[in-house]
Amino acid sequence: VGDGRRQAERLLARHRADTGSLPESIAMVLWGTDNLKSEGGPLAQALALMGAAPRFDTYGRLAGAQLIPLAELGRPPIDVVITLSGIFRYLLPMQIRLLAEACHLAAAADEPEDQNFIRKHALAFMAEHGGDIETASLRVFGNAEGAYGANVNHLVDAGCWDQQDELGNAFTQRKGFAYGRDGHPTRNAALLHSALANVTLTYQNLDSVELGVTSIDTYFDTLGGISRAVLQAKHARDGDAACAPPVYIGDQTQGEGVVRSLTEQVALETRSRMLNPKWHESMLQHGYEGVRQIEAHLTNTMGWSATTGQVQPWVYQQLAQTFMLDPAMRERLAQLNPTASAKLAHRLLEASRRQFWQP
Ligand code: BEZ
Ligand code: MG
Repeated sequence: VGDGRRQAERLLARHRADTGSLPESIAMVLWGTDNLKSEGGPLAQALALMGAAPRFDTYGRLAGAQLIPLAELGRPPIDVVITLSGIFRYLLPMQIRLLAEACHLAAAADEPEDQNFIRKHALAFMAEHGGDIETASLRVFGNAEGAYGANVNHLVDAGCWDQQDELGNAFTQRKGFAYGRDGHPTRNAALLHSALANVTLTYQNLDSVELGVTSIDTYFDTLGGISRAVLQAKHARDGDAACAPPVYIGDQTQGEGVVRSLTEQVALETRSRMLNPKWHESMLQHGYEGVRQIEAHLTNTMGWSATTGQVQPWVYQQLAQTFMLDPAMRERLAQLNPTASAKLAHRLLEASRRQFWQP
């Protein structure tokens, strides 16, 4: 709980440094394994942002959520639109109810709207769509029973999406199941879409030094997918005035943790992994699988461009230079794994066709 509170403050401090303001609403992705490994750090962070804390019974057992009084919190409770991985959904069902209870308590609190952003947005939703506070305060979303992922990764891998709205739509439809205080999901993609239109920034924690946001396709599937869905929801509401939300990563792999923008995180990972000879030469010692890993990193990088537009063009320029425009390297890759090599080349061409960089 203490760590969650500090990570919440760290994120708000970074956003304040970038914009000078407090976000009204944050879209946060929660994974299961991260929460298990950190004794619930990220979910405690979500609670802290909402101005809530766990409630314990007289035996010291976790029993639900409670609100921190506004005077003690010292800032408005922030609206947190939580999307769960399929793994979280099955590993931590009681914690889903805890989070849903916190959202409901905050929305139902007898507090002025300008001092409680959860209540502000819930009341606005009711004014526009009717219904009760129970529905208007639903902020925990996930997949349908039995389903995993947002499918944004599959669309990017297949390379067959034409408009970026297809990626946002896939996310909203796939993750549009709202979990209430009873822990059961009901399909309500329209509510998710509406809640996402208020989102100021998107966020996920990173907890392993072994895997970065460009190592596996599930980070851009979840955090990238929701970022794209936020832009789409804002566009539907505000038209051309809509702009993409800033995306932040809470790197929890060392010390107290550090918050980076997605642009900074991708740059760091590209320099330390793909462009670093110690990394790519070690990968190539694994033969065909090493080439496949290099191709996967490029595809995942393009997944971030597709969903957020926050990857700098030099990333593609230098990857092209290192792996394709160097004849000796190109030949080595082609010998080790012709299929992945061709995919790498095609992906760079696709990225330029989609204007993520200009060769
Ligand atoms: C999870 O722990 O929730 C998770 C792990 C890997 C990929 C996606 C989700
Ligand atoms: Mg930690």
